[in-house]
Amino acid sequence: MAGSSLSFNLSNLRCNLAVLFCFICSCGVVMFSEADANYLTLDYYAKTCPKASEIIHSQMESAVSSDPRVGPRLLRMHFHDCFVQGCDGSVLLDDTETFKGEKTAGPNINSLHGFDVVDKIKSHLESECPGVVSCADLLALAAKDAVILAGGPYWDVPLGRKDSRSASLEKANTDIPLPNQGLITLISKFLAKGLSTTDMVALSGSHTIGVARCTSFRDRIYGDYQYTSKDGGELLRLKKMCPEKKNDENTTNLDHTTPTLFDNAYYGNLVKGEGLLNSDQELYSSIIGFQTVKLVKKYAEDSLIFFKHYSDSMVRMGNITNPHGGEVRNNCRVMN
Ligand code: HEM
Ligand SMILES: *[C@@H]1O[C@H](CO)[C@@H](O)[C@H](O)[C@H]1NC(C)=O
Ligand SMILES: *[C@@H]1O[C@H](CO)[C@@H](O)[C@H](O)[C@H]1NC(C)=O
Repeated sequence: MAGSSLSFNLSNLRCNLAVLFCFICSCGVVMFSEADANYLTLDYYAKTCPKASEIIHSQMESAVSSDPRVGPRLLRMHFHDCFVQGCDGSVLLDDTETFKGEKTAGPNINSLHGFDVVDKIKSHLESECPGVVSCADLLALAAKDAVILAGGPYWDVPLGRKDSRSASLEKANTDIPLPNQGLITLISKFLAKGLSTTDMVALSGSHTIGVARCTSFRDRIYGDYQYTSKDGGELLRLKKMCPEKKNDENTTNLDHTTPTLFDNAYYGNLVKGEGLLNSDQELYSSIIGFQTVKLVKKYAEDSLIFFKHYSDSMVRMGNITNPHGGEVRNNCRVMN
């Protein structure tokens, strides 16, 4: 235990040094940053499509009111977009005979939904201002609306992302964190994207809404759920809907306390040992989770601090850019 926490701290330090080093090296090019195609700004569409965020908000409002599953689905889609090549709409590209996208990657297949809603929003944007608003920005704005519509915090979304002319099935399989992974791997995957441990704990709070399939948490309920939680009733319910060898696709709420409300109850569940995914419970129960335990307790006690950290972390996650730039797709599913 001491050994692993020590090596973790060392790699953390190395990482910080690497960041500092890059920072020093990049000072020479800072003056070009305004010309950088990837530089995000709040007023990016002020002249070219002033109604963009309004259109997305009203479309999200009606989509969520007719199907509440849409909000969590689009929030997760933005996350899976940003963790592969940066927030560049790569997750939205359809497979063709000659092109392999990210939709069949392990974390996405049979799991990401709502592409039809993205198409519908995009068609409204196209009729208002053709060829202007990127699919990647659409996802960033829709994710913010999903959170607000569920009662969560508001934040201003920096804009100006470009849509990729590529996708990476391989990176979708390697870079997106998995529910059965342990704390060190989870932290490393966020660090690799320039996000901190605090970002990871705050962003995991997204699991205050939405659902997971049996296949995502079966190992946990037949494994250590019984040791972390005293709520035998909840465990029994989960085992009943997810027998050991069937019903892979049955779903249940990630936050069984307040499933559709964006609040801090997710963290209260973790303190009670009732995190649904192994990756959720790791934040509180991992033997090396000193820093994450403190954050979980703080967020469980103070929803305003959680909301503040969550909004800041969403802006940082949304700021992961694809250095190759790109285009504004006419149709989110295909390159122009
Ligand atoms: C910490 C690492 C994370 C892991 C291992 C993880 C894993 C998962 C898994 C396995 C599911 C259930 C998928 C299924 O069974 O079909 C899920 C759902 C979800 N995740 Fe995460 N996630 C993580 C972080 C995040 C982040 C950073 C966000 C957003 C910023 C997010 C947003 C969501 C949402 C909203 C759902 C519900 C989706 C729905 O209802 O359709 N997750 N996550
Ligand atoms: C789980 O899946 C089975 C088979 O598809 C279905 O009959 C059952 O109603 C589902 N249960 C829940 C709780 O979703
Ligand atoms: C976003 O990224 C740019 C460079 O890519 C950086 O200058 C800026 O500080 C970042 N903003 C946030 C909020 O992380």
